[in-house]
Amino acid sequence: MQAEAPDQSPADEGGRGGPERWAKRLVCSRTGEPAPLDEPAFLSPAGAPYLVEYELDRAAGERLRRRLATRAWGLWRYRELMPMRDPESAVDLGEGGTPLVRLRRSAPPGLEVWIKDESGNPTGSFKARGLSLAVNRARELGAAGIQLPSAGNAALAAAAYAAAAGLPCRVAVPADAPATILGRCREYGAEVLAGGANLVEAGRRLTAGDEGDDGYWNVATLREPYRVEGKKSMAYEIAEQLGWQQPDWIIYPTGGGTGIIAMHRAFAELRRLGLVDGPPPRFAAVQMAGCAPIVKAFEECRAAAEPWLDPVTRAWGLRVPVAIGDFLILQALRESDGAAVAVAEERAEETAARLARADGLLAVIEGAAAVSGLEQLAASGRVAEGSRVVVLQTGHPANYV
Ligand SMILES: Cc1ncc(COP(=O)(O)O)c(C=O)c1O
Repeated sequence: MQAEAPDQSPADEGGRGGPERWAKRLVCSRTGEPAPLDEPAFLSPAGAPYLVEYELDRAAGERLRRRLATRAWGLWRYRELMPMRDPESAVDLGEGGTPLVRLRRSAPPGLEVWIKDESGNPTGSFKARGLSLAVNRARELGAAGIQLPSAGNAALAAAAYAAAAGLPCRVAVPADAPATILGRCREYGAEVLAGGANLVEAGRRLTAGDEGDDGYWNVATLREPYRVEGKKSMAYEIAEQLGWQQPDWIIYPTGGGTGIIAMHRAFAELRRLGLVDGPPPRFAAVQMAGCAPIVKAFEECRAAAEPWLDPVTRAWGLRVPVAIGDFLILQALRESDGAAVAVAEERAEETAARLARADGLLAVIEGAAAVSGLEQLAASGRVAEGSRVVVLQTGHPANYV
C-alpha cells in the first residue's frame, strides 16, 4: 500500500492555500444539469439556483480533520469545502468562528439548547458568511461591481466585503430599513437606493439583468451559487463545536432560506467525509405570523410556496414574500423530517427581552423568533424531551437602531 504523501505546503496546514480543491462543478438544483465552476453563473436555464458539487470521501475527511488541528478558528478553516480557486487571495474580515452558547434559564424544560450566536460576525450578522463568498467569487471571476436587494443586514455585509475587495457596490433596501444600516453602507462607500415596502419592491431599483447593464453582478439570495457556500460554514462549526456530532434539531429564522439549504447540504458533506455519522439534524423553519409563506406551504404539503400578499412584520430579515429557493427549503424540511412554525410578533419581542434579562444574550428579533418557535415546537411535543437543539441567533440588534 502506498503511504499517503505528507502535506508539503505549510500554507495548507496553517494558512489558506494548498493543493486541494474539492469543488468540481455547479449543478442545477432542479434538473441536476451541470455547469462549469469557474464561469459567471446565475440562475440555470430551468430558472433554478445553481449549487456547488464537491468530490468527497472518507480519506479526504481524515486529511481535513488533521489540518483543522493547526488552523485558526473561522470560516476559512474549512477552505476545502469552499469553492474559491485561490483561497489564499480571499478577502477575510474575520467571518465565522462564532460561539455556541448553552441556553440555560430560557431553555424549554427537558431540552439541551444551544444558541449559535452570530452577532459577533463582521457587520453584526450571519450575512457576513454568505457575502464573503459571493463577493470573493465575484472578484475572482471578474465582476465589475456587485448589487443586491436586501432587507438590511445583507446590504451591510455586501458593502463591507465589496469595499475590502475593491469592488463598487449598490444596495437596494426597503424604505423603512434601519437608518444605522443605511448610514454604515454609505460609510463603506456603497451606493444606497432606499424605497419600496419590501425586498422584492426594493429590488426593482437595481440595474436590469444578472450581470447588470453596467457589469454589476446581482448577488441577491440564491441568484448566484456562492452565498449558500459561505453559510454552510455555520453547520461545519456547529458539528465541530459539538465534538463532531449532529444536533437533533436546528431551528432557523427563515426568510430567503439560504441558511437551511446551506446547512442541510453541509451536514450531508460532513457525512460523506466521515466526520459525522447518523441521521441528519431535523430542520425547523421559523417565520413571523405576518409573513409565513414557507410555513403555509409546508402545512399544505406543497412543493413550492405561494407569494405572501401584504407581508407585515418588524423582523426585516423575515419579511420575504417570495423565496426563489422555496422548493429547496421545503425539500430540506421534508427530507430531514423537520417542521415549520409561525410566531406572533409580540411573542418574538417578549422573547428578545427575556433572552437579555434572563440569559445575558442580546438577540435580533429574527433570532428571538427562532427561540419562540422552538418553545412552540417543544410545547406541542414536536421537539421531544431529551433533544439536543441548536438555534440560530442571526444578528446583533445594534444594526436595527
Ligand atoms: C437577522 C436575520 N435573520 C434571518 C434572516 C433570514 O435569512 P435567510 O434569508 O437565510 O432565510 C435574515 C435575512 O435578511 C436576517 O437579516
